[in-house]
Amino acid sequence: MGQLRLSIALAACFSASFVMAQNVPELSGPQPDPMRSVPAAPIAQFVTDDVRQMRAYPEQPPVIPHSIEGYQLSVNTNRCMSCHTREMTRGSGAPMISITHYMTREAQMLADVSPRRYFCTQCHVPQADAPALIGNTFTDMSELGATGAGSE
Ligand code: HEC
Ligand code: HEC
Repeated sequence: MGQLRLSIALAACFSASFVMAQNVPELSGPQPDPMRSVPAAPIAQFVTDDVRQMRAYPEQPPVIPHSIEGYQLSVNTNRCMSCHTREMTRGSGAPMISITHYMTREAQMLADVSPRRYFCTQCHVPQADAPALIGNTFTDMSELGATGAGSE
C-alpha cells in the first residue's frame, strides 16, 4: 500500500516536471548541431545626446544620457565619481549625486559616497536606441488622475 502511494506521488512529480519542462526556453545552441556558432546581432547604439531624461516616477534612478564606454568602475576606481562627486561638479558641470547617495542605510550622512551607492551602474543605465523587447503598458501617474501641486 505504502509503495503504491509512493509510486503515485512519484508519477505525479514526474508528469508535473514534464509539463513544466515544456515551458522552459531552449537553452542549448542551434539545432541539430548545438555546438555550431551563430552570428550575434549587432549591439544597439546607446543614446549619448547629453539630454537629461524625465523620470518616469519620482524615485527612478535617472538614466545616463552620455557615453560610459571604457569608464572604469571597480573596487579601486570609480570614474563616475570623478565628475559626479560634490567636489568635482564645479569643474565637470555634472549633476551632483543626490543627497541619498551620501547616506548609509541607518541614515547616517557620510563625507563620501555610501558603499551601498558605490556601484553606479547597479541602478543607473544608459538607454539604447532599440525597439522594446516586449510590450509595455506603463502609465505615468499624472495620467492616472493625480494632479500636480499648483496645477488648478
Ligand atoms: C566626464 C564627466 C562625467 C563622467 C566621467 C560621468 N558623467 Fe554622468 N554626467 C555628466 C554630465 C556633464 C551630465 C549632464 C548631462 C550631460 O551633459 O550628459 C551627466 C549626467 C548623468 C546622469 C543623468 C542625471 C539626471 O539627473 O538626469 C546620470 C544618471 C549619470 N550622469 C551617471 C553617470 C555614471 C553612472 C557614470 C559612470 C559610469 C558617469 N555618469 C560618468 C558627466 C560625467
Ligand atoms: C542603489 C541604487 C543607486 C546607486 C548604486 C546609485 N544611484 Fe544615483 N540615484 C538613484 C536613485 C533612486 C536616484 C533618484 C532619487 C534620489 O535622488 O535618491 C538617483 C539619483 C542620481 C542622480 C541625480 C541627482 C539629482 O539631484 O538630480 C545622479 C547624478 C546620480 N544618481 C548619480 C549616481 C552615481 C554617479 C552613482 C555611483 C557613484 C550612483 N548614482 C549610484 C539610485 C542609485
